[in-house]
Amino acid sequence: MKMSTAIGPNALDDGAQGVVGRPLDRVDGRLKVTGGARYAYEMSQGPAAAYGFVVEASIGRGRIRSIETRAAERAPGVMLVLTYQNAPEQGTGNHHDAHPVLTGPEISHYGEPVAFVVAESFEQARAAAYLVQVAYDPLPGKFALRDGKDLAYVPEGGNAPADSAVGDFTGAFAEAPVQIDVTYTTPLQSHAMMEPHATLASWEGDKLTLHTANQMLSQGRQTVAKTLKMPPENVRLVSPFIGGGFGGKLWVNADAILAAIAARRLNRPVKTALTRQQVFHVTTHRSDTIQHIRLGADPNGRILAIGHDVVSGNLGREQQYEGAAVQTRTLYAGANRLTRHRLAALDIPIASSMRAPGEAVGLLALECAMDELARKLDLDPIELRLRNEPAEDPEQHIPYSSRHLVACLQEGARRFGWDRRNPRPGQVREGRWLVGMGVAAATRGNPLRLSKANVRLGADGVVTVRMAMTDIGTGTYTILGQIAADMLGLPTEKIRVELGDTNFPEAAGSGGSFGAGSSGSALFDACNSLRAKLAGLAGMDPDKARFADGSITAAGQSKPLADLVGPGGIAADGEIVPGETLKNFSQQSYGAQFAEVGVDADTGEVRLRRMLGVFTAGRILNAKTARSQAIGGMIFGVGAALGEEMALDPRFGHFVNHDLAEYHVPVHADVPDVEAVFLPELDDKSNPLKSKGVGELGICGAGASLANAIYNASGARIRDYPITLDKILSVLPSQS
Ligand code: MOS
Repeated sequence: MKMSTAIGPNALDDGAQGVVGRPLDRVDGRLKVTGGARYAYEMSQGPAAAYGFVVEASIGRGRIRSIETRAAERAPGVMLVLTYQNAPEQGTGNHHDAHPVLTGPEISHYGEPVAFVVAESFEQARAAAYLVQVAYDPLPGKFALRDGKDLAYVPEGGNAPADSAVGDFTGAFAEAPVQIDVTYTTPLQSHAMMEPHATLASWEGDKLTLHTANQMLSQGRQTVAKTLKMPPENVRLVSPFIGGGFGGKLWVNADAILAAIAARRLNRPVKTALTRQQVFHVTTHRSDTIQHIRLGADPNGRILAIGHDVVSGNLGREQQYEGAAVQTRTLYAGANRLTRHRLAALDIPIASSMRAPGEAVGLLALECAMDELARKLDLDPIELRLRNEPAEDPEQHIPYSSRHLVACLQEGARRFGWDRRNPRPGQVREGRWLVGMGVAAATRGNPLRLSKANVRLGADGVVTVRMAMTDIGTGTYTILGQIAADMLGLPTEKIRVELGDTNFPEAAGSGGSFGAGSSGSALFDACNSLRAKLAGLAGMDPDKARFADGSITAAGQSKPLADLVGPGGIAADGEIVPGETLKNFSQQSYGAQFAEVGVDADTGEVRLRRMLGVFTAGRILNAKTARSQAIGGMIFGVGAALGEEMALDPRFGHFVNHDLAEYHVPVHADVPDVEAVFLPELDDKSNPLKSKGVGELGICGAGASLANAIYNASGARIRDYPITLDKILSVLPSQS
């Protein structure tokens, strides 16, 4: 079906089996905690695999002068050393559609693979990798965003236009009685998913199978085919379990291509995994940003002018920018508006999507600037947002599909005890702790992508769902089972969901918060087709038939589904095609983030004390997995506010802290009390499930709520993330 118009009442509203929405445990939970779920590196296929190890460039930019592989080739167990001198020619493109490796002597960034050593064991390959001697002619490079920003250019071909302008921003801002003119910066970030990138490649004739950790298998198949110059139908990607991605596995990475090339050369399966350290340079990261925000308001807090300029960086030939001003086009009212994204060409690894690309760091700036405006107006920050609630999308002049930001703010304020907050910063003290509360809005775009599904009811009464969708730890297996159960009137024990294989119908995969909506809608469509077929077999009107408890019922007649199915079972296909509702309605999910922090009055140390997110994201498909998604995202936001930062060595373009000891993500002790609540909502413009994306909503605004709480607690307004204690200490007023 095509998503052209609003969805009327449908079988999911009916909830015949009462399954969708329930907080069911993840169906793969037991497999995961018992080690039964096997990941790419644990797979085997055919003869015993050889093991590959990547050798990384140790300069930031330049040329390989010579590469000496003989010592490595003579090392125990080694059977192949691939370099640019013996690698095959490959297809090229941006990182979304090709990922050629070992293409020549040029080095474009630190850590770029320069060789791939394959041996009988991983240890032998790793030992031999250190015997590869590479001599370089280095060239000066541009590594730091601040060094590239003056030459930044207008990126082309992003998800959204780089610029937007409505009214006369410059004039309106200049004349606004109240002005905020601030620059926020966010650092380089790494996805830091649990499972490092890994691939097992094996060939049968000219057919390639890759067991690989990848979020978007159907897209990845195209990328592999284009890179290796082979027909897509000869490429199969398999990935039933993925240990997190956060965007770091959206695209095909070097592990997959190197393993495929080596396996073909050796006529033997080849397995490889990046080390944790290699993940930082060999795969993608999130760019740092410089964000200039200007808000002009009248004395009552009504925004007259809103401007957001963003500079991010990327490897020279790439066009993907960090869309940090995209939400500023739609979040608040205001007649005069200007947003611009610029891209600096740098000589560092490819910057790409990381959890809530755009909003996650855009809201770190915008939602703190709003807090600054509220302070300047002496207005409650929630009240400021209520006064700027738009009646329609303020740039596109189209209605919202659904928008309940105000309800989220008000319900959150009630639950969090916002009325106990002292609006003047630095006033509340408990022992050595300065205590404060902060609030921020959350919003995330709600995309829909083409997806297909196949559903089969077998003679045994078991339904099998198949699609090339992935579950990266989010609960996809579980929610798809719930949808099929309600649509077909069967208990979830009778539904088997099979994902993670490009032999199954094409699917959008897990990314951009489009996963559940897109795959679930394709499944919804397939189930509707199957319902029609079953009703036909039962001699019933499909529009009147009710499916529940394993039977189809119409006009007082009831028949068990199993009786309608022959030995071969009965199957149906479905698909969702994005349509006009994406153009005719401004689609976002919304929320309100609340944080309470303590700031040590002497050391500047920050402790999160409690956190609440109140969200609306259409129909919630599983209350437990949605809540877990939201909480996980909020904790991601805690990391963005307080700790996460890749430290760049500006001499070599090297990420110095390339491991999880030194790249600081929150741990249990950092996260005492986090709660997430979803308010009821149905969005009939979003998709037939009436759901909206949940995955990335939790991080949006979360970090800003901490930053605003730190300000409320201590009076320290830090505009350079992460907010580490040294920055707080440098501005903390003396308390003694
Ligand atoms: Mo997400 S950054 O699209 O995995």
